[in-house]
Amino acid sequence: MSISAVWVLLGLLFCAQSRCSECPGGCECFAVTRTVKCVSTDLLMVPQIIPGYAKTVIITENTIHRIGPDSFKELENVSKVILSNNRMTQMASHSFSALINLHFLDLSGNQLSVIHPEALSIPGSPLQELNLSRSLYNFTALTDLTTALRWGDLRGLLCLDLSGNHLALLPPGIFSDLLSLQQLFLSNNSLVAVYSGTFSGMNNLELLDLSHNAFRTFGTDDLKELEKLGSIRILLGKNPYSCSCEIQNFVAWLNNSRAQIDVDSVRCISPKGLTNSQLRGLGLRAIGCIVPTQTEISDLSLQTSYVFLGLVLGFVGMVFLFVLYLNRKGMKRWIIEMRDACHDVMEGYHYRYEIDSDPRLGHISAHNGISRARQHVEISLSQEPPDDTCIVAEDAQVNPLKSTSEARNVL
Ligand SMILES: *[C@@H]1O[C@H](CO)[C@@H](O)[C@H](O)[C@H]1NC(C)=O
Ligand SMILES: *[C@@H]1O[C@H](CO)[C@@H](O)[C@H](O)[C@H]1NC(C)=O
Ligand SMILES: *[C@@H]1O[C@H](CO)[C@@H](O)[C@H](O)[C@H]1NC(C)=O
Ligand SMILES: *[C@@H]1O[C@H](CO)[C@@H](O)[C@H](O)[C@H]1NC(C)=O
Ligand SMILES: *[C@@H]1O[C@H](CO)[C@@H](O)[C@H](O)[C@H]1NC(C)=O
Repeated sequence: MSISAVWVLLGLLFCAQSRCSECPGGCECFAVTRTVKCVSTDLLMVPQIIPGYAKTVIITENTIHRIGPDSFKELENVSKVILSNNRMTQMASHSFSALINLHFLDLSGNQLSVIHPEALSIPGSPLQELNLSRSLYNFTALTDLTTALRWGDLRGLLCLDLSGNHLALLPPGIFSDLLSLQQLFLSNNSLVAVYSGTFSGMNNLELLDLSHNAFRTFGTDDLKELEKLGSIRILLGKNPYSCSCEIQNFVAWLNNSRAQIDVDSVRCISPKGLTNSQLRGLGLRAIGCIVPTQTEISDLSLQTSYVFLGLVLGFVGMVFLFVLYLNRKGMKRWIIEMRDACHDVMEGYHYRYEIDSDPRLGHISAHNGISRARQHVEISLSQEPPDDTCIVAEDAQVNPLKSTSEARNVL
């Protein structure tokens, strides 16, 4: 009996000094703060013996690849589990079902690629805060998670952190079963749009963080989705906004929205002239939706277009002259040929003129008044151009004799 009393005494002493032998190897257990801490101890799995008094379990920076239904024994007092940075790849069915009072679960900094649809199911839906920041390995994990969020019956969840997961799109209805959600962190992803229905049913949302994503603007559909959320706080800063006319609706929304937005961080990244300008309050003219007014056009655009036209015409003229210069020999020959042709034609006219001054013809016209022949001759004469032009070339086909014969017929 005395021996066993000594053992009990020794046991109590040992417990007091080393915070009880119940504490798993390599971990630290704090009875006063009811915390168990296993940090960087090369654990390959969740320790099996966790003291029953523990409220907070911190198992970080180990190499726990998988958790499952056998990972946690029933521990009614545990409300907070931190499993960040464990290179965890798999979460099996009912991984946390034994922790019926688990309010806070931090799985950030892992590489989850397989998430069982019932991985997050816990009887009574105690979970209030779930941190999955930088924890999804690829798109498969996201679709898995979408199912797990639906099947997990997380109707008590208040806060969800999905930041830093390279998310390019949010599967439709991913949040539709999180009816109590108040805070949703989606920052530091690659989102470019918010599809319609993404946030439907989230009537208790108070904070939506969409900062540090890839939004270049918010289109009409995206804005409708955001507007549905009412007067909540929305973080939209640090996105690569492109401030062209397409951003008009977004600016108008920022100008008037009921939501509380981090407008000071919502700034243009392009074009150059607007880099770092705050989006809210940007005028339609600044973003290029209004072309300058009439007077400005005549003052500026028209002047520049005249200058441009002048330059173009000048250039065309130069080219023309240059071509002429290159062809100067051919031109010379052509001019000479034309002159000779003109010469021949002019001789023909001289002949016709002589006929006209024939005294017999003058006699006819004097006697018979108007005659077609005379008219014709008169027209031909009046059309006679100066000596050096050659337009007359066509007229050269008129046979001077024809008019004389016509005149004779009339006679
Ligand atoms: C949980 O804590 C209470 C009070 O601190 C304690 O009575 C109970 O035994 C603990 N539960 C377990 C499973 O140890
Ligand atoms: C989630 O965890 C990351 C670090 O792992 C931390 O920076 C972040 O603040 C946590 N999210 C919330 C909502 O507390
Ligand atoms: C995601 O990673 C897992 C494990 O490496 C792989 O089986 C799966 O095919 C990957 N999914 C995609 C979409 O790449
Ligand atoms: C965004 O995530 C990357 C990796 O996922 C990280 O390196 C970076 O620090 C994060 N940035 C912010 C602002 O959280
Ligand atoms: C936003 O408001 C400013 C004045 O506060 C106004 O000049 C601008 O035109 C508005 N922008 C849009 C797109 O409605």
